[in-house]
Amino acid sequence: MYQDLQGKVAVITGSSRGIGRSIAERLAKEGMQVVVNYHSNSEEAQEVINYIQDQGGQAIAQQGDVSLEDDVQSLLRTALHEFGRLDLWVNNAGVENYQPTERMSLNEWQKVIDINLNGLFLGSMAAIRHFLKNNQYGNVINISSVHERIPWPGFTNYAVSKSGAKMFTKTIALEYSKRKIRVNAIAPGAIDTPINAEKLADATSQQETIDLIPMARIGKTQEVAAAAAWLASQESSYVTGETIFVDGGMTLYPSFAEGKG
Ligand code: NAI
Repeated sequence: MYQDLQGKVAVITGSSRGIGRSIAERLAKEGMQVVVNYHSNSEEAQEVINYIQDQGGQAIAQQGDVSLEDDVQSLLRTALHEFGRLDLWVNNAGVENYQPTERMSLNEWQKVIDINLNGLFLGSMAAIRHFLKNNQYGNVINISSVHERIPWPGFTNYAVSKSGAKMFTKTIALEYSKRKIRVNAIAPGAIDTPINAEKLADATSQQETIDLIPMARIGKTQEVAAAAAWLASQESSYVTGETIFVDGGMTLYPSFAEGKG
């Protein structure tokens, strides 16, 4: 448990399911009051709220599209109105959209950039402006991907959004490091969530994915949430501008594992 998180407040975008849900649940377990942002499925969000409240935690659901500035501002307002403060903003919402680059329309490109990259800009800026205004400690965590490092044909828009997330994280970490604000990223590998449920449901493609992972298994959302809790806490007080890879070794060039090359 991270005692310093007791009574602090977090906004987690896209947290009605998947990795975001586990982050919301873990931070609430640590004693944080959490705003659970959802895009369209209010029932899913309510399930998360019920679960957290059943465990004795405090949480509220708030609809919002992270690519729209007004919606992002409303997430901040909800945190301040319901819980009276903001300490942490987790930019988790993200989408993938397979399309070979030569067939990708500008809309298909733009949609992924709008959510994964512009959403991250809007969320970070809402939080950072608030931290600066209050001259307070502040913390931002961006959920990136191993594809901030690994090229991914058919997902150019996604890989570009995540490599953008990496440099955005580093740049604003540097920009605000003297102002008591830390900014870090988490790069998950293959984690079992709805985003890749179809791929993982097929035995052959699941095995193809596992073959890319030195630890030879798909990751759990709770394993990503554990990294988020550490970055949220003062235990990581001297860490900023970093990406933590939670990927079972996927970025370790697994094809070199037997001393080849
Ligand atoms: P998911 O599809 O279960 O969750 C994504 C969440 O984002 C959903 O709740 C969805 O409603 C929300 N969302 C989508 N568009 C939104 C918008 N415009 N505004 C607000 N919310 C929106 O997927 P998962 O896996 O939990 O993804 C979470 C993050 O982790 C994403 O940024 C994804 O790119 C990243 N990631 C996931 C990996 C995986 O293997 N599952 C691997 C690497 C990164």
